[in-house]
Parts: sequence; C-alpha cells; structure tokens
Amino acid sequence: MNDALRLTILGTGYLGTTYAACMASLGFDVLGVDTDARKVDQLNTGRLPFYEPGLRELLHSGLNSGRLAFTTSYPQAAAFGDVHFICAGTPPQPGSHHADLSQVHGCIAALAPLLDRRCLVAGKSTVPVGTARRLAAELAGACRGVELAWNPEFLREGSAVADALTPDRIVAGVTSPWAEEVLRQVYAQSIADGVPFFATDLETAELAKVAANAFLATKISFINAMAEVCEAAGGNVYSLSRILGADPRIGSAFLRPGLGFGGGCLPKDIRAFIARTADLEADQALGFLREVDAINLRRRTRTADLACELVNGDLANVPVCVLGAAFKPGSDDVRDSPALDVAQVLHGMGARVTVYDPAALANARRACPELGYAATPTEAARDAHVVLLLTEWTEFAELTPGDLGTVVAHRNIVDGRNVLDPALWRAAGWNFRSLGAAPAASLSTRFGGRRNAKDRGEVGSR
Ligand code: UDX
Repeated sequence: MNDALRLTILGTGYLGTTYAACMASLGFDVLGVDTDARKVDQLNTGRLPFYEPGLRELLHSGLNSGRLAFTTSYPQAAAFGDVHFICAGTPPQPGSHHADLSQVHGCIAALAPLLDRRCLVAGKSTVPVGTARRLAAELAGACRGVELAWNPEFLREGSAVADALTPDRIVAGVTSPWAEEVLRQVYAQSIADGVPFFATDLETAELAKVAANAFLATKISFINAMAEVCEAAGGNVYSLSRILGADPRIGSAFLRPGLGFGGGCLPKDIRAFIARTADLEADQALGFLREVDAINLRRRTRTADLACELVNGDLANVPVCVLGAAFKPGSDDVRDSPALDVAQVLHGMGARVTVYDPAALANARRACPELGYAATPTEAARDAHVVLLLTEWTEFAELTPGDLGTVVAHRNIVDGRNVLDPALWRAAGWNFRSLGAAPAASLSTRFGGRRNAKDRGEVGSR
C-alpha cells in the first residue's frame, strides 16, 4: 500500500526536506515543492542546505532510486500528489510573537486552484490553534473532494531522521473517517510496529504540538529555576536534577540544568502559544509560560555575569573564548542560540570574543559578524582571560584542563552545560564556575573547610 500513495511535501526547509527523504526511504514516491529555485536545484543534486546527521545519505538514496525529486511547479505537484503535506515555516511575525502564517497560506493559495481530484492536504507546520479549521473551509470551497487534516511533526534537530522514521506517536487531526484512513495508510509501517496513532479533531492535533513544546520548555525552566535557588542557598542543581529524575512520575528527560533552551522551535512556539491564547481571551491559562521564558533568558544573563565575576567585574577589551555557537549539539542551527546570545552579551560588555563550534561556524559568522571566530578550541582559547563552554558538544566534554591550560592567559572557565568535571579542572588550577552550583570557595566556607565539593555530590554525580 505504501507505494500506492504519492506524496508531495510543500516547503523544503528543515522539516520538509527531512520528511521528504524519510518518506521516500519508506518506499513512497515523493515530490518536494518549493518556490526557491536555487534550493530546489541544490536538493535535486543531492546537496543539503543544512546539517543533519544521516540525512544526506537518505537524500542521495532517494534521488538515486527515482522515488524522490524536487520541483518549483505547483501544477506538477497538484497532478502528482494523493496527499499533500504542508511543511512551510511559521516564524514569528516581525515585531510580534504571533506566528507568521504567510508561507502556509502561500502553499494553500498556490495548490487549491489546481486540485481537480480527491486528495488530502495534511498540515505538518506548527500553527496557532484554529488555523486548520479556517484552512479546511478555504479548501472545501476551492474543490470538491479535497479535505484537510492536521498531522503535526515532533522531530528534533540532530535526531530528525530517526524521529521521522520511528516516531513515538502519530497525531491525526481529521474531519472524516476517509482522512483518517488515508493517514493510516501513510503511516502503515509505524502503526504495524506498534506506534500509537491518535485520531482526533483539528484543534487538538494543533495543540498536541504546541502543548508538547510548552511542557518541555517548562521542564527545562523548572530545573533552571531550581538552579537559581541552589545558587542562592548553596545547593547543587546537578545532584538535585538526578534525585528528582529518579522519581518515575517526574522522569529525568528534559531536566538537564544549564544555559537553557533555544533553537528555531521552543522559544518561538511558546511565545506564539501565549499570543494565540491572548487572542482567544484565555491568556490567563498560560501566564506561567511567560515565567518559563523569563527563567530561560535569565540563565543567559547569569552566565555572562559569571564570566564577568571571574575577571573581576570588567570585561572591557578582555579576550574571551566561547566554545559553542549551535543551539544544541548535533546541529548547525544558531537560531535563538543561547550560546551565541551569551557571546553577543559579552561582546556588548566590551569583551573581545572568539567563538569556536564544530558545525555552526559559518552560520554563526553570518548571524554575528561582529564576533571573532577560530577553527579550533585551542585557537579560540589563545590568550583568553576566561573560557565559556556553552554548547554541550562531545568534543568539549572531552577537553582536559591541560588542553587549554597552556594557551589561555588566565585559567578561568564557566561550564554553562555541566559537561566538565569541576574537581579535575580545579585541581589543575582553574577557577571553575557552573550554573546552579556554588563556587568552590563558598562550599568550603559553608562547611568550615571540612567538606569539599566531592563530599557534597558535586563530583561524579552526573
Ligand atoms: C524541539 C522539540 O523537542 C521537538 O519535539 C519539536 O518538534 C521541535 O522543537 P529541537 O528544537 O530540535 O526540538 O530541540 P530540543 O532537543 O527539544 O532542545 C531544545 C533546547 O533545549 C536546546 O537548546 C537544548 O540544549 C535545551 N535543553 C534540552 C536543555 O537545556 N535541557 C534539557 O534537559 C533538554
């Protein structure tokens, strides 16, 4: 049944390209559609415009098998597709937190007049609740037999291929048994493998995505709020996180304290969610999400302040090394990256910032041309008065105090992601600070010098 349905993917950004290549690898004939001719040429010749582990190989095998192609032609798409997936981006509107739906509307406006047979249009983009109902009415008016469904995608950058091929749930917002049946055919393999398939209404399907992102953001900010308390009270948030996570009702996922969340989804999605509930006059319900956002942003300020403290309060003209630019490891995405944001704040405080990242240097340079960049961690750290580790790449976790100790001017380090062993670095003469843990000096003061960080579970407790 898989190869009987032909799929179009409207919008070949991060989501669309990943989904197109993955569905082709499952045996579907797939046509990716984008208005950007340069991008379409690039994809047709097997070049990925972004970094995602495992995706290039899938793109190549899809193109070579003849099951995957990309076009700018909507007439071709309309003739080709039994199911049209909308994967267009929904960035914030300029000057507002509301989602900009112009790309989604653009897909529908281009496709609808060309449809002349029964088919399903299935939205995957993250949209404000209520969007699908309006689009369904537009489509129904355009052509008989065309239906709209909402089928949100939960893929994460860095593991997008696995997330698309083996999802942990499938959500189908539908208005008819036929639409549900079509989506069941699309996901027949996953359903056979036991993946839960939730058929629901359009609004619940739209909410399934934003509610999941809101919950994840809340979990991260919860533990980061505990980090603030630990800093004030002298506790250790890394130990606390492990203890909390051992309760199966809480769980340890997304309870990693540190510099907080960023990227192209979580921050903008929670803000758009708040903005949408204000339109619905239900914004009281999401008041806590404003605090989630505020806690998250405070971690960035706190990190910059820790660096400032380590150089005695004045960063003017001070060489600073920033390790990490991507919003998380395994990605070259710098959209709303906490690491790059902190680098900019330090630059704003007068520091001479040099950034290194294993994958995101080109994107970072484009986004922040005012910062300095280096090709290796040691080059970035040369003569630095303080080093900040801001994205938890494995390459950074494997750094030893000796790797950087000989090139820096002063042995000061802020571990914004809790990936280094504080005892090891302190033993090698580094002033070591991390978020949510008291500095070594205040620990020994508190316990009259009799207990050290290790006794308190700070070391080896991760
Ligand atoms: C997220 C959702 O996870 C995904 O389901 C949705 O489809 C898109 O948005 P992604 O943006 O790829 O995916 O990143 P994610 O892995 O969720 O991480 C988001 C941010 O939270 C990163 O900056 C990460 O470093 C941070 N994070 C994550 C923490 O600070 N602590 C944690 O415990 C987990």
